[in-house]
Amino acid sequence: MRTQVAIIGGGPAGLLLSQLLHRKGIDTVVLERRSRDYVLSRIRAGVLEWGAVELLREAGVGARMDAEGFPHDGTYLASENRGFRIDFVERTGKQVMVYGQTEVTRDLYEARDKMDGQIIDEAEGVTIHGADTDAPHVTYTKDGSEHRIDCDFIAGCDGFHGVSRKTIPGTVLREFERVYPFGWLGLLSETPPVDDELIYAQHSRGFALCSMRNANLSRYYLQVPLDDKVEDWSDDAFWAELKQRIPEDAAQRLVTGPSIEKSIAPLRSFVAEPMRWGRLFLAGDAAHIVPPTGAKGLNLAASDVHYLYNGLVQHYEGDDEGIETYSERALARVWKSERFSWSMTTLLHLFPDQSPFERRMQEAEFDYLAGSEAAQTALAENYVGLPY
Ligand code: APR
Ligand code: PHB
Repeated sequence: MRTQVAIIGGGPAGLLLSQLLHRKGIDTVVLERRSRDYVLSRIRAGVLEWGAVELLREAGVGARMDAEGFPHDGTYLASENRGFRIDFVERTGKQVMVYGQTEVTRDLYEARDKMDGQIIDEAEGVTIHGADTDAPHVTYTKDGSEHRIDCDFIAGCDGFHGVSRKTIPGTVLREFERVYPFGWLGLLSETPPVDDELIYAQHSRGFALCSMRNANLSRYYLQVPLDDKVEDWSDDAFWAELKQRIPEDAAQRLVTGPSIEKSIAPLRSFVAEPMRWGRLFLAGDAAHIVPPTGAKGLNLAASDVHYLYNGLVQHYEGDDEGIETYSERALARVWKSERFSWSMTTLLHLFPDQSPFERRMQEAEFDYLAGSEAAQTALAENYVGLPY
């Protein structure tokens, strides 16, 4: 088989790139290790920057998001029993869109199917060959037989545990990492959200977040020790702990119910440089991970795809500047989002080995944010998304 761009990974990054390129007449094949049902069962974050919203529209997959998503004008930040709202629209003129990543992925699959996009699922043993030559190819096994795809370029959109980043020689690749000493326990329930907007809550018992998917689907998170197991947390224990960590008025309003999903995720900051090796380009979680505190994971995947998509389109029009500068341009934005996600995480969480001085620093930063329009503007412009 031959294609122009072989895309490894059928998560949001790979699917969005495939969809955008197809609309410009560039041929792609997506290779996904898992089944479609598996990919669509993963519950992930739910806040889209406006740039991501516009990119999804450009890809022709914005209709259901625009009909069913919720534009949010601001968010609430709490510390113990006090708090304040940051008005994104007043501070930056922009909103964010609350719409689940699982739904984005579903919309992308549907759009790819409608255009007869080629997505090969349950592709095993995907291997990249000759990425540093002018004639790369990819091999994989499907239903017991070996296949080969020759291509012009390979897009490594296969997440943190994929093969693409590992294909780049250790002498070329540099990795930067911070692993946080806690995790997030997430719970999804068919209950009305506690508030119209998200609540990020700093608390001496640990961080909590109140988020949502729609009028009758709520997503809540609790900071938990890394060695906690989901089985240790009954629904009742989750709700009781959440009520202690959020402001009293919210705790009183909180509607609880049985969980329909509960899971623990570790928190990590990670960046791999460069994001290009020869004809292999990394995009999304394959190149970087952020802790979820600023909801930047999917949004960073979208901005990488924006740069890569434009670079590839330019290449087929005869100009290589976009692909030559891809890694540099993508990384410049990646590092700023990494900084924001790390600073939100550091501000809002309780660190196990934190000194009393560090705790006071967090409190002072919170107070400063509460009282300073300039500080709120800085947070808001990062939250709604820095320009591409
Ligand atoms: N071969 C083929 N596919 C693979 C391989 C492989 N060796 N390894 C991983 N994959 C697939 C995974 O099964 C997954 O479906 O690549 C896909 C990568 O998707 P994501 O992990 O969702 O990553 P990405 O598309 O970059 O999306 C970024 O997802 O993890 C969140 O926080 C992240 O919101 C962000 C978004
Ligand atoms: C979510 O709704 O899952 C969510 C929202 C905001 C975050 C992280 C996760 O910062």
